[in-house]
Amino acid sequence: MIGAPAPVGLQGENTPLANTERRRLFVLEREKLFRKGIASIKAYVPGKPMEDVMRELGLTEVVKLASNENPLGPSPKALQAIKESLDSINYYPDGACLALTQKLAQRLDVDPEGIIFANGEDNIISLVSKTFLNEGEEMIMADPSFSSFEISARAMGAKVIKVPVRSDFVTDLNAMLTAVTPKTKLIFLCNPNNPTGTINTRQEVEKFLAGLPDHVILVLDEAYKEFVEDPAYPEGLDYVRAGKNVLVSRTFSKVYGLAGIRVGFAVGHPDFIGGMKRIREAFATNRLAQIAALAALDDDEFLQRVVAVNKEGREYFYQEFDRLGLPYVKSQTNYVMVDTKKDIRQVFEDLQREGVIIRPAYIWDMPTWARVSVGTREENKKFIQALEKVLA
Ligand SMILES: Cc1ncc(COP(=O)(O)O)c(C=O)c1O
Repeated sequence: MIGAPAPVGLQGENTPLANTERRRLFVLEREKLFRKGIASIKAYVPGKPMEDVMRELGLTEVVKLASNENPLGPSPKALQAIKESLDSINYYPDGACLALTQKLAQRLDVDPEGIIFANGEDNIISLVSKTFLNEGEEMIMADPSFSSFEISARAMGAKVIKVPVRSDFVTDLNAMLTAVTPKTKLIFLCNPNNPTGTINTRQEVEKFLAGLPDHVILVLDEAYKEFVEDPAYPEGLDYVRAGKNVLVSRTFSKVYGLAGIRVGFAVGHPDFIGGMKRIREAFATNRLAQIAALAALDDDEFLQRVVAVNKEGREYFYQEFDRLGLPYVKSQTNYVMVDTKKDIRQVFEDLQREGVIIRPAYIWDMPTWARVSVGTREENKKFIQALEKVLA
């Protein structure tokens, strides 16, 4: 709420600002023009870019283990395909992503009508919220989990119900089921969960699904699916094939290393996907992204290498965290949560000075924890050396 109106109206801001209080009044005046609820949303906090850290600290080399990116670069097949297609970007992309949809449908053994592509999975998440959430309806998610779920739902005026993870950091599906009300429309289940790295098992998910009423849609975010080793991990697409109210969302950003070019997709019943298609941006998935994803789907060799390097890195982290006496959460993804037992804001700053960027977990109210992406062998080693020095 605004305490007093801006003294000279919005147009008067060009006069020199008397003080920060005056500036705050102008901010509040403009926020009054926002759609209801937007002003109270906290913006997504991305991992700190390497360029910023290098500039700020005068470093020439920085290791970024903050955004769960692919340390081996992009899929070579995707890269080659992009290079060969650069001179076609004067043409709009195929808005329907026909070639990519056909290939993926075959690969996944699903109805092509039940697939939608977008500008990264993040764009899919906001499209899901836009398509299904009415003002005042409820969306349930784990806490902590991926913040885009909350941002997209609140932007639609929905109420966000956050259910704390269990003491073993696994998403609490029993508690989520208890949180379902007649107003619940969407549940975003991040499996594996970001940032905890844990999974819900097939048995847990199926029991959960069986308890959901028909007015609820379950969104399974499987951004890190390819890194999962646990045989109890469910195949989300089985629920789509069985005609359940389930949407599965995935990305080419992680295992295929295409985060910078933006391509993600959702699979669901064609009737649900049809609703999303009505309101998607006409050309959300750019031309090079489609070409890259099409080629990446044939790059099994790269995928296997990425998964193997990640597994080795994850094991190395466990071994080193054990040696340093630091608690951590066993992960099914390409990142690991570790308790540094120190103020993570300070550790984050100190690590940057050593040329390493991690994700400080105070953003998820875990003031001594860090989420660290698995890098190459050299990057992981540099991080551990820096961490040991910083904590000493
Ligand atoms: C759980 C989860 N879902 C979705 C995304 C978004 O992926 P994309 O790069 O395709 O937008 C991320 C990215 O970090 C993620 O961690």
